[in-house]
Amino acid sequence: MKKIVCDNYDEMCRAAADQYVEQLKQKPNSVLGLATGSTPIGLYDELVKRNGEGKIDFSRAHAFNLDEYHPIKQNHPQSYKTFMDEHLFNKVKFASTRIPNGEATDPEAECDKYNADLEAAGGLDLLLLGIGTNGHIGFNEPAVSYPLDSYLVKLSADTLESNSRFFTDGEEQPTTALTMGIGQILAARKILLMISGAGKAEISKKLFEGKLHTDVPACFLLLHPNVTLIIDKAANGD
Ligand code: GLP
Repeated sequence: MKKIVCDNYDEMCRAAADQYVEQLKQKPNSVLGLATGSTPIGLYDELVKRNGEGKIDFSRAHAFNLDEYHPIKQNHPQSYKTFMDEHLFNKVKFASTRIPNGEATDPEAECDKYNADLEAAGGLDLLLLGIGTNGHIGFNEPAVSYPLDSYLVKLSADTLESNSRFFTDGEEQPTTALTMGIGQILAARKILLMISGAGKAEISKKLFEGKLHTDVPACFLLLHPNVTLIIDKAANGD
């Protein structure tokens, strides 16, 4: 795992944006795996800015999002579809975008379709990941065993608690989600992991031990040959 330690979050976002400029220069029709959460917001802002300045072009790139709550209306304010539209897709033109459908009545069929769509696109060239405080990646929660392809997952109490900040009173928070599986994540040709803030220092430490803690899903990334970690000093424990 290649590690880039940045002074602060803004520097992290610029460093991550540089990776996209390089990726799309080398392969304009890249398949990009994208993430949600608060961590990528500054990166998306930076990409929108650079796109407006003509420094990066996504018009031939294909986006596949990692996960989505289920069940949730696509236009729900807290759906990942809404998040992606607001932060990126309404502002930057992609050749195509794909997010697991939180409205699907048959979630297993939706996962099968998602797997087929991703495979037909040729798999992920560059996958962006954040990390949950419990070590989850996408919505792969700590578990005894991990599905390789997309699946319907029951969210952990930890995750429900951390993500409850996004749901206002009266908005029902889904307790399950659709997520890419660990196999699909590890099949990405390159992975960009962003970790920011003192709240992530403890889980980052687990990752740096260089051991495969199987109850920390992010540790599976230690098995991948091409991961770049962009982290700020606060999360790095400096
Ligand atoms: C959510 C997403 C993850 C994300 C995590 C961390 O649960 N499913 O993909 O990495 O939150 O979010 P944050 O960046 O807000 O800490």
